[in-house]
Amino acid sequence: MDFIHVEGVSKAYADHHVLNELTLDIHKGECFTLLGPSGCGKTVLLRLIAGFEVPDQGKLYIDETLVSDPGEHINVPPENRAIGVVFQDYAVWPHMTVFDNIAYPLKIAKCPKDEIEKRVMEMVDLVAMRGLEKRFPSELSGGQQQRVALARALVAKPNLLLLDEPIANLDANLREEMRFEIKELQRKLGVTVLYVTHDQEIGLAISDRVAIMNNEGVIQQIGTPYEIFEKPVNPFVFSFMGIANFLNVRMENGQYLAGTGSQAVPWEKPENPAGVVDWVAGFRPSDVRISRTPEAGKSLKGIIRRANFLGAMMDYLVEIDGTTLRTNLETHRAISENLLFEAGDECYISFLDLHWFEAEKLKGAILE
Ligand SMILES: Nc1ncnc2c1ncn2[C@@H]1O[C@H](COP(=O)(O)OP(=O)(O)OP(=O)(O)O)[C@@H](O)[C@H]1O
Ligand SMILES: [Mg+2]
Repeated sequence: MDFIHVEGVSKAYADHHVLNELTLDIHKGECFTLLGPSGCGKTVLLRLIAGFEVPDQGKLYIDETLVSDPGEHINVPPENRAIGVVFQDYAVWPHMTVFDNIAYPLKIAKCPKDEIEKRVMEMVDLVAMRGLEKRFPSELSGGQQQRVALARALVAKPNLLLLDEPIANLDANLREEMRFEIKELQRKLGVTVLYVTHDQEIGLAISDRVAIMNNEGVIQQIGTPYEIFEKPVNPFVFSFMGIANFLNVRMENGQYLAGTGSQAVPWEKPENPAGVVDWVAGFRPSDVRISRTPEAGKSLKGIIRRANFLGAMMDYLVEIDGTTLRTNLETHRAISENLLFEAGDECYISFLDLHWFEAEKLKGAILE
């Protein structure tokens, strides 16, 4: 059995069914990220695993121990689950110093004083807070408070660390730094991490495996970051994993034509045994190649509708027979390869990678 085994777990609040017979396995020692839109049930799942909530039905195992089973009236309390938790607001106690915040779980567990002293200072070093242990949270930056919350979650040497959007409130630079620190900590300590967030970038950067949950609390795909990004199983996963472009394509007389025009798409066609007419070719801006001259049998003609200089990148809005798409290109390449376009210029578009979706199935699956 896997380290965490969630088996057919359901949870509702009044008549709102947040999780319906959810099943999920997390391996020992891995960093597993649950990604999903706001309100889909990520925090609810963490609270169930931590033991702050009881499922309506289903079973929950941690390290082969059955910790929740409402059918059998089993519900191991949070303090006996050997879990460290950092919740969304990462609240550290404002009236306690850094030292006392981190020491708190050990005091509750009635650890001897000299052991508390030793273990807290180990944690202080681990999160690079040496010299700040007598400060109060109001005297710390957001990132430092975050590290205190992490140290507090880790001090009791949990086997499992549950992190709920722990760095969402930090600025972009600190967020980047913290996500590598979290990954580093996980490697050093070998602790199993379940990280929940709606931030795709973090999910891709730190995880061994990622699960994508939709608005109804249903897991759509589980895989490595590469699999999720490159082989999305459906349009929801595809559009959730970053800016997505969609080119309308229709089948006419066995040909696949772009937009409302008559250019046949020169790439691999979808499998289409049912003869579906309306399709959408999905791709990311980084999968688009733009040039001034056609590539025989590979490109479509378009018109630049907007050209934006974003410093390191050029951002183009291109229209192909009534459908617009976005692409970008490094500015230095644009200059050296004569690809500095202006609105109104003609261009040719080809693709490195492309995902076919039936237009009908795309409706309601796209987030933006
Ligand atoms: N105690 C509760 N009582 C009633 N409804 C709740 C309760 N806790 C959560 N919910 C509802 O359950 C749904 C899922 O909530 P949850 O907090 O798990 O979302 P989330 O995926 O963590 O979202 P976010 O990314 O915004 O944190 C929401 O619609 C929320 O309103
Ligand atoms: Mg949440």
